[in-house]
Amino acid sequence: MTNRSRVYNFSAGPAMLPTEVLEASAAALLDFQGKGFGIAECSHRGKEFDGVIDEAIARCKALLGLGDSHDVLFVQGGATQLFTTIPMNLVAAGAVPEYVVSGEWSKKAADAAKPYAAKVLASSEATQFDRPASGWTASDGAAYLHVCSNETVHGHRLAEWPTHPNLVVDASSEFMSRPHPVGRSALVYAGAQKNLGPAGVSVVLVRKDLYPRIAKTVPKIFSFSALAENKSMLNTPPTFGIYILLETFRWLERQGGLAAMEQRNAEKAGLLYAAIDGSNGWYRGTVAETAARSHMNVTFRLPSDELADRFVKEAEKQGLTALKGYRTVGGIRASIYNAMPVAGSQTLASFMRDFQAKNG
Ligand SMILES: Cc1ncc(COP(=O)(O)O)c(C=O)c1O
Repeated sequence: MTNRSRVYNFSAGPAMLPTEVLEASAAALLDFQGKGFGIAECSHRGKEFDGVIDEAIARCKALLGLGDSHDVLFVQGGATQLFTTIPMNLVAAGAVPEYVVSGEWSKKAADAAKPYAAKVLASSEATQFDRPASGWTASDGAAYLHVCSNETVHGHRLAEWPTHPNLVVDASSEFMSRPHPVGRSALVYAGAQKNLGPAGVSVVLVRKDLYPRIAKTVPKIFSFSALAENKSMLNTPPTFGIYILLETFRWLERQGGLAAMEQRNAEKAGLLYAAIDGSNGWYRGTVAETAARSHMNVTFRLPSDELADRFVKEAEKQGLTALKGYRTVGGIRASIYNAMPVAGSQTLASFMRDFQAKNG
């Protein structure tokens, strides 16, 4: 349909989306199935949108290999609203939630749970979050154990999700980039704007046996059980955002599903880490443990801030955009979510080698 030229966009989010998804969504925005109105122009109570949300739920579950144990919710308010409402929903009297703090996002989540007497089991802040926090043991009797499986700012991930009877995972920046053990998790949440679609919609997978814990005092609009009962339509949901998610789920299936994405993402990340590791220390990866390096957000530094600035500017001129590191951390961050093709990583890796040859 469109023929606009695309740069390789390494933004951490909102981020690059597959062209096929954008084209199909743009067509549905103009006209949905030849009906003379677009998908953003019809009621969420009508049969057109009902079909969209049913298919989105079914495809989301199919991609994750998820059965009837969990509900799929689409909510507004971002991952921030979710890490705020999770303790409100899941901390029953007498139980305490436990948090592992490995970076910016798990720290913010733990802070949001302070009014619920959240216990921080371990933190890697003393080493500037250069690795996932370690040396912790969660108690089975905790209200839940919260982890962030991929720290977007600091560029590391949990290669394996931990095991806990009530595991809660912020998977925002790696959701559907690989298969996830959702079936053995209590609750998994992700803002869409990295791997799935536009900002303004988040996905929550919630185990149904948690509903009896939710106190009657939780406002309905924040209650996971009330949202599930109403198929995420207690009020008007972000209809167009959910439509884009549906197109992304269809696209993921066409790519071969999450196992295929995992392989492709490992290849893309491997190209960039090889450029870092092959630079004789000129590029310095920021993550202390190789095994914990993120496959989504590749973070590194150059010998000086001035060189990092020049790197970002020269990359931009070559169609490699949004490589500046997070505002509080600096350096370079290349986010290579599902939509980034292998060619994008190859182009960046060769730019890195050329840049070093000219400036090293
Ligand atoms: C891992 C993680 N969790 C939570 C958030 C917060 O998401 P939002 O801005 O949608 O509330 C982000 C945003 O980048 C993130 O990367």
